[in-house]
Amino acid sequence: MTEWLSRSERRPLVAGNWKMNGLRKDLAEADKICAATAAGEAGEAEVVLCLPATLLMAAVASCEAAGVGLGGQHCHGAPNGPFTGDVSAEMLKDAGASYVILGHSERRAGHNEGNASVREKTRAAFRAGLTAIVCVGETRAEREAGDAMAIVGSQLTGSVPGEATPETLVIAYEPVWAIGTGLTPTLKDIAEMHRFIRERLEADLSGVRDRIRILYGGSVKPSNAAELMRVPNVDGALVGGASLTARDFMGIASVYRDLRVAS
Ligand code: PGA
Repeated sequence: MTEWLSRSERRPLVAGNWKMNGLRKDLAEADKICAATAAGEAGEAEVVLCLPATLLMAAVASCEAAGVGLGGQHCHGAPNGPFTGDVSAEMLKDAGASYVILGHSERRAGHNEGNASVREKTRAAFRAGLTAIVCVGETRAEREAGDAMAIVGSQLTGSVPGEATPETLVIAYEPVWAIGTGLTPTLKDIAEMHRFIRERLEADLSGVRDRIRILYGGSVKPSNAAELMRVPNVDGALVGGASLTARDFMGIASVYRDLRVAS
């Protein structure tokens, strides 16, 4: 039995966030990820690729065959309408996605997305039958001021709709200062924050506390994945830069092939 099963019934999830990277030729990397996942390299973890919307349909066949999930990286709150340039949750679903990342700090900062907007989009994801990966995390200044938990707590309460379930919601804790920087919080700080998030989920959505998956994101690499994924209440990873190559991404996901119960 794997270590995560002994801790809980939460199936680990390793999700890649390609951000605004990837042309059709780069699907060769996605295909390699699919082949490795199908060969059991991620153990019993669930593997999801959140690709640019332009690549979703081209990736569906290999991902479906390999049991790799597909996700979008953002959606509009409405199902359709006069919103030039936007993509709806229904469109992502129609293109083959089963997940969507919402409230990523790059969108919170670069597109002025506040908690209320993230909540509306999360409801749109539920409406379309997508699982929302809702991102939360503090800035460096907020952590240094001792406000990290207060910020993350208010992001959770403001962004997560009350009707969320373990099937429809995944939380990703991504400290803004750890994204793309090579920096990560201490394992103790991650453990404290993930425990805090789990407690806050219980307060906000009673009864589901133990089943909602909480991912860690921010400079996850093959070299630090094993120690990060062993932290209590870390149920997987949201991986940016290292998800762009099969070698690095599977170097992370394969932690779950190798995790075994110590006792
Ligand atoms: P990173 O990005 O792994 O490149 O730090 C993580 C993310 O933004 O989801």
